[in-house]
Amino acid sequence: IRFFFPRLEDTLAVIKPNGMEQHREEILQEIRAGEFSIMQQKEAVLSRELAEEFYREHRDKPFFSQLVDFMCRGPCLMLVLTKENAVEEWRAMMGPTDPSEARQAAPDSLRARFARDVLENSVHGSSNAQHARQKIDFIFGEIGEENEGNVEREMGS
Ligand code: TYD
Repeated sequence: IRFFFPRLEDTLAVIKPNGMEQHREEILQEIRAGEFSIMQQKEAVLSRELAEEFYREHRDKPFFSQLVDFMCRGPCLMLVLTKENAVEEWRAMMGPTDPSEARQAAPDSLRARFARDVLENSVHGSSNAQHARQKIDFIFGEIGEENEGNVEREMGS
Protein backbone atom coordinates (compact mmCIF):
# COMPACT_ATOMS: atom_id res chain seq x y z
CA ILE A 1 0.00 0.00 0.00
CA ARG A 2 1.39 3.40 -0.88
CA PHE A 3 0.26 6.45 0.99
CA PHE A 4 0.29 9.78 -0.77
CA PHE A 5 1.35 12.79 1.24
CA PRO A 6 0.88 16.08 -0.56
CA ARG A 7 3.98 18.27 -0.40
CA LEU A 8 2.70 21.26 1.48
CA GLU A 9 4.48 24.56 0.98
CA ASP A 10 4.30 27.85 2.90
CA THR A 11 4.20 31.31 1.43
CA LEU A 12 4.00 34.76 2.98
CA ALA A 13 1.04 36.85 1.87
CA VAL A 14 0.56 40.46 2.95
CA ILE A 15 -2.58 42.52 2.48
CA LYS A 16 -1.03 45.97 2.05
CA PRO A 17 -2.50 49.18 3.54
CA ASN A 18 -4.69 50.07 0.53
CA GLY A 19 -5.96 46.50 0.39
CA MET A 20 -6.80 46.69 4.10
CA GLU A 21 -8.54 50.04 3.72
CA GLN A 22 -10.87 48.98 0.94
CA HIS A 23 -10.84 45.29 0.08
CA ARG A 24 -9.82 43.31 3.13
CA GLU A 25 -12.86 41.02 3.23
CA GLU A 26 -12.88 40.35 -0.51
CA ILE A 27 -9.21 39.43 -0.46
CA LEU A 28 -9.69 37.11 2.54
CA GLN A 29 -12.66 35.56 0.78
CA GLU A 30 -10.46 34.81 -2.26
CA ILE A 31 -7.84 33.21 -0.02
CA ARG A 32 -10.48 30.95 1.51
CA ALA A 33 -11.93 30.13 -1.89
CA GLY A 34 -8.41 29.22 -3.07
CA GLU A 35 -8.30 26.61 -0.29
CA PHE A 36 -5.17 27.97 1.33
CA SER A 37 -4.81 27.18 5.03
CA ILE A 38 -4.03 30.28 7.07
CA MET A 39 -1.44 28.90 9.49
CA GLN A 40 -0.45 32.18 11.15
CA GLN A 41 -1.62 35.76 10.91
CA LYS A 42 -0.64 39.10 12.36
CA GLU A 43 -2.12 42.53 11.84
CA ALA A 44 0.24 45.42 12.48
CA VAL A 45 1.35 48.86 11.39
CA LEU A 46 4.93 48.33 10.24
CA SER A 47 7.64 50.67 11.46
CA ARG A 48 9.88 52.24 8.80
CA GLU A 49 12.76 50.07 9.95
CA LEU A 50 10.76 46.92 9.52
CA ALA A 51 9.39 47.92 6.11
CA GLU A 52 12.92 48.86 4.96
CA GLU A 53 14.23 45.49 6.07
CA PHE A 54 11.29 43.65 4.53
CA TYR A 55 11.95 45.23 1.12
CA ARG A 56 15.76 45.42 1.48
CA GLU A 57 16.22 43.77 -1.95
CA HIS A 58 14.79 46.99 -3.43
CA ARG A 59 16.79 49.49 -1.36
CA ASP A 60 18.60 50.92 -4.39
CA LYS A 61 15.49 51.30 -6.54
CA PRO A 62 14.08 54.77 -7.24
CA PHE A 63 10.71 53.79 -5.78
CA PHE A 64 12.12 52.51 -2.46
CA SER A 65 11.26 55.42 -0.16
CA GLN A 66 7.72 55.71 -1.57
CA LEU A 67 7.30 51.98 -1.12
CA VAL A 68 8.38 52.18 2.52
CA ASP A 69 6.11 55.20 3.19
CA PHE A 70 3.17 53.35 1.68
CA MET A 71 3.77 50.13 3.61
CA CYS A 72 3.80 52.08 6.92
CA ARG A 73 0.70 54.15 6.17
CA GLY A 74 -1.73 51.88 7.99
CA PRO A 75 -2.19 48.32 9.13
CA CYS A 76 -1.06 45.38 7.04
CA LEU A 77 -2.32 41.83 7.48
CA MET A 78 0.50 39.30 7.22
CA LEU A 79 -0.48 35.69 6.61
CA VAL A 80 1.30 32.38 6.33
CA LEU A 81 -0.59 30.48 3.63
CA THR A 82 -0.08 26.76 3.29
CA LYS A 83 -1.06 24.56 0.40
CA GLU A 84 0.54 22.37 -2.23
CA ASN A 85 2.44 24.73 -4.53
CA ALA A 86 1.43 27.71 -2.39
CA VAL A 87 4.12 30.12 -3.63
CA GLU A 88 3.16 29.82 -7.28
CA GLU A 89 -0.57 29.61 -6.65
CA TRP A 90 -0.62 32.76 -4.51
CA ARG A 91 1.49 34.64 -7.11
CA ALA A 92 -0.99 33.57 -9.79
CA MET A 93 -3.91 34.73 -7.67
CA MET A 94 -2.23 38.14 -7.13
CA GLY A 95 -1.38 38.71 -10.78
CA PRO A 96 1.40 40.92 -12.21
CA THR A 97 2.95 43.73 -10.14
CA ASP A 98 1.51 46.50 -12.33
CA PRO A 99 -2.30 46.50 -12.44
CA SER A 100 -2.42 47.82 -16.00
CA GLU A 101 -0.56 44.67 -17.03
CA ALA A 102 -2.68 42.57 -14.65
CA ARG A 103 -5.90 43.80 -16.25
CA GLN A 104 -4.63 42.59 -19.62
CA ALA A 105 -2.95 39.34 -18.63
CA ALA A 106 -5.02 38.23 -15.62
CA PRO A 107 -8.26 40.19 -15.33
CA ASP A 108 -9.60 38.07 -12.45
CA SER A 109 -6.46 38.50 -10.36
CA LEU A 110 -6.44 40.47 -7.10
CA ARG A 111 -4.18 43.17 -8.49
CA ALA A 112 -6.31 43.59 -11.61
CA ARG A 113 -9.32 44.11 -9.36
CA PHE A 114 -7.95 45.91 -6.31
CA ALA A 115 -4.64 47.64 -7.10
CA ARG A 116 -4.68 51.40 -7.48
CA ASP A 117 -1.34 51.57 -9.31
CA VAL A 118 2.01 49.78 -9.38
CA LEU A 119 2.88 51.08 -5.90
CA GLU A 120 -0.46 50.56 -4.15
CA ASN A 121 -0.96 47.12 -5.58
CA SER A 122 -2.92 45.72 -2.61
CA VAL A 123 -1.10 42.45 -1.93
CA HIS A 124 2.35 40.91 -1.55
CA GLY A 125 3.44 37.33 -2.09
CA SER A 126 6.84 35.66 -1.85
CA SER A 127 8.47 34.98 -5.21
CA ASN A 128 10.06 31.63 -4.26
CA ALA A 129 10.15 29.11 -1.41
CA GLN A 130 13.46 30.37 -0.02
CA HIS A 131 12.24 33.97 0.17
CA ALA A 132 9.03 32.72 1.72
CA ARG A 133 10.93 30.97 4.53
CA GLN A 134 13.15 34.02 5.15
CA LYS A 135 10.30 36.51 5.27
CA ILE A 136 8.07 34.26 7.38
CA ASP A 137 10.91 33.87 9.90
CA PHE A 138 11.49 37.62 9.78
CA ILE A 139 7.87 38.61 10.32
CA PHE A 140 6.69 35.86 12.64
CA GLY A 141 9.98 35.22 14.41
CA GLU A 142 11.42 38.65 14.92
CA ILE A 143 8.33 40.82 15.29
CA GLY A 144 7.13 38.54 18.06
CA GLU A 145 10.42 38.46 19.89
CA GLU A 146 13.48 40.68 19.93
CA ASN A 147 12.10 43.10 17.34
CA GLU A 148 8.89 43.83 19.21
CA GLY A 149 9.79 47.54 19.21
CA ASN A 150 9.69 47.60 15.41
CA VAL A 151 5.92 47.24 15.38
CA GLU A 152 4.38 50.50 16.37
CA ARG A 153 0.97 49.13 17.21
CA GLU A 154 -0.14 45.53 17.31
CA MET A 155 -3.66 45.39 15.96
CA GLY A 156 -4.97 42.12 17.39
CA SER A 157 -4.74 38.47 16.32
P1 TYD B 1 8.58 43.58 -7.05
O1 TYD B 1 9.27 42.66 -6.09
O2 TYD B 1 9.24 43.88 -8.35
O3 TYD B 1 7.09 43.07 -7.39
P2 TYD B 1 6.13 42.01 -6.67
O4 TYD B 1 5.48 42.71 -5.51
O5 TYD B 1 5.12 41.66 -7.74
O6 TYD B 1 6.98 40.83 -6.24
O7 TYD B 1 8.34 45.00 -6.33
C1 TYD B 1 8.01 45.06 -4.97
C2 TYD B 1 7.04 46.18 -4.78
O8 TYD B 1 7.64 47.43 -5.11
C3 TYD B 1 5.80 46.11 -5.66
O9 TYD B 1 4.82 45.23 -5.17
C4 TYD B 1 5.36 47.54 -5.68
C5 TYD B 1 6.66 48.33 -5.64
N1 TYD B 1 7.07 48.79 -6.98
C6 TYD B 1 6.87 50.13 -7.34
O10 TYD B 1 6.35 50.91 -6.53
N2 TYD B 1 7.25 50.57 -8.56
C7 TYD B 1 7.80 49.73 -9.49
O11 TYD B 1 8.13 50.17 -10.61
C8 TYD B 1 7.99 48.35 -9.12
C9 TYD B 1 8.61 47.38 -10.11
C10 TYD B 1 7.62 47.93 -7.88
